[in-house]
Amino acid sequence: MCGIVGAVAKRNIVPVLVNGLLRLEYRGYDSAGLVVVHEGKLERVRSEGRVAELGQKSANTQGDVGIAHTRWATHGVPSERNAHPHMSRELIAVVHNGIIENYEELRTELTAQGYEFTSDTDTEVIAHLIHSHYAQGSLLAATKMALSQLVGAYAIGVIAADNPHQLIAARKGSPLLLGVGDSEHFVGSDMSALLQVTRNVVYLEEGDVVELNVDNYRIFDAEGTEVQRPVQISELNNDSVELGEYQHYMQKEIHEQPQALADTLESVCNSQSLVPGIFGAEANDIFPRVENILILACGTSNHAGQVARYWLEEIAGIPCIVEIASEYRYRTSVPNPKTLVVTISQSGETADTLAALNHAKATGHSYTLAICNVPESAIIRQSKLRFLTRAGPEIGVASTKAFTTQLAALFLLTLVMAKVRDRLNEAREQQFLHELRHLPAAMLKVLALEPQIAEMSKHFADKHHALFLGRGMHFPIAAEGALKLKEISYIHAEAYPAGELKHGPLALVDKDMPVVSVAPNDTLLEKLKSNLQEVKARGGQLFVFADANTHIHASEGVHILQMPEHAGFLSPILHTAPLQLLAYYVALQKGTDVDKPRNLAKSVTVE
Ligand code: M6R
Repeated sequence: MCGIVGAVAKRNIVPVLVNGLLRLEYRGYDSAGLVVVHEGKLERVRSEGRVAELGQKSANTQGDVGIAHTRWATHGVPSERNAHPHMSRELIAVVHNGIIENYEELRTELTAQGYEFTSDTDTEVIAHLIHSHYAQGSLLAATKMALSQLVGAYAIGVIAADNPHQLIAARKGSPLLLGVGDSEHFVGSDMSALLQVTRNVVYLEEGDVVELNVDNYRIFDAEGTEVQRPVQISELNNDSVELGEYQHYMQKEIHEQPQALADTLESVCNSQSLVPGIFGAEANDIFPRVENILILACGTSNHAGQVARYWLEEIAGIPCIVEIASEYRYRTSVPNPKTLVVTISQSGETADTLAALNHAKATGHSYTLAICNVPESAIIRQSKLRFLTRAGPEIGVASTKAFTTQLAALFLLTLVMAKVRDRLNEAREQQFLHELRHLPAAMLKVLALEPQIAEMSKHFADKHHALFLGRGMHFPIAAEGALKLKEISYIHAEAYPAGELKHGPLALVDKDMPVVSVAPNDTLLEKLKSNLQEVKARGGQLFVFADANTHIHASEGVHILQMPEHAGFLSPILHTAPLQLLAYYVALQKGTDVDKPRNLAKSVTVE
């Protein structure tokens, strides 16, 4: 979702702004723009197309202070006139990520004061509001006054034509980092935008306003008090955001899964036993008191939660429910203070998940655990307990390695919970640890099936719909496979628990409806085989991802991908990868923008 970069330096910062936006492209956007102060004037360049186009258009633009933005449309269609930065009377320029909920009311008031609106965005009110206060004080004071009138979420960057060495930034509900350089300072929506110039970063907190000058910066907290925040050294590696030998980030990230799993499981696999402390020191006190688990997440992360429910109830014997985060806070639920509320998020900034977490806390849940891939993200900071998946930066909009590492983390949670509840004896614990240590190698073997999957994908290129089937803990994997396919190939795909087929969706089955099935060698195999027969008997084309020894054979209309082994409880993790690859290769056939599918954003920071 929208990306922000800002800089104040003693050099031309246009290349920094453009490079920063290029690094933020993965978040998803439909237009881009930048503005700098040059010889006492605001010089703005905007483009409805790609950042590369903005780079060309701004090749002759120069300035020592500036702000830049990639826009993911919320208010107003994607167009140059709606692209940020937005300006007020050639004096104030603003970039914004988030949604201003009271913008209509503010727009009416500002129009009455004589301000002219040139876009359909909610952001433009911020520029005019700051302008309306600027005559009475500094840019910092005017911005603070304007912010006090806003209802909603924002990360903003502000500059003024008559203030060529200063940038004001603020965040509330949307992410923003401060980059500390040598006599130059920066802001960015995430670290990948800033790595080109600095590794020294300050994670701004909710309500922070920061004044950036060339030689110094000042941070004010939500109460307006000047505060010091620690400068941290980012461990993000510039190479990890490079494409390298791969054609797309999604392909790269699928292939990074063995390493991502090994990294995520590292501390556990090197130890001889599992302890609650891997989720934070307070877990030792909290876990024995937990009566049930509530998992809150969106999209792919929600699918991870759905798999975990099977593990938690079967292995740890603890009741678990999984809710779509965007729904949870709008229904009346019955809180239990002994519930462990688990949020799962790759980005840690998903507005719906964050709001669900806050709702859970407001209704009396104090046991909160975040499973997240981004250190210092809002969800991590606002949870009592935490587990960091170590997938590394995930750039492709379609989540891949984040998902399988979330599953690994949730399996650890299951084992720890089982142990705390006396449901895991020493021998079983050692057996599970052994299986976890083997997981990266097993994943590597599955990824070696890539050529066969690429071949299989050719059957999907001319299709408009697909069904995905799974049973038990593999039903959420089928749902994840369907999500991947629709997200990047734009083929309509739906997932069903295989037993549900005859209750309706079977009516859809014909030769033009590919039916993809996850077929692990587990206790539900024979039931699944019967369901597959129902499809075959109706002329459906089956694509079965079958474990060894399932005795499902290829025949007319039945295509088999033979999985190397059956991985017991860890099977959902391994069955995910071929479905990711299938979606990837189908998208290649369709020629879609794999890493930046239409209409989608990587971090969904608005509701
Ligand atoms: O960053 P999060 O894990 O909180 O994101 C949640 C969803 O937006 C995300 O998983 C989305 O469904 C992915 N694009 C799916 O590939």
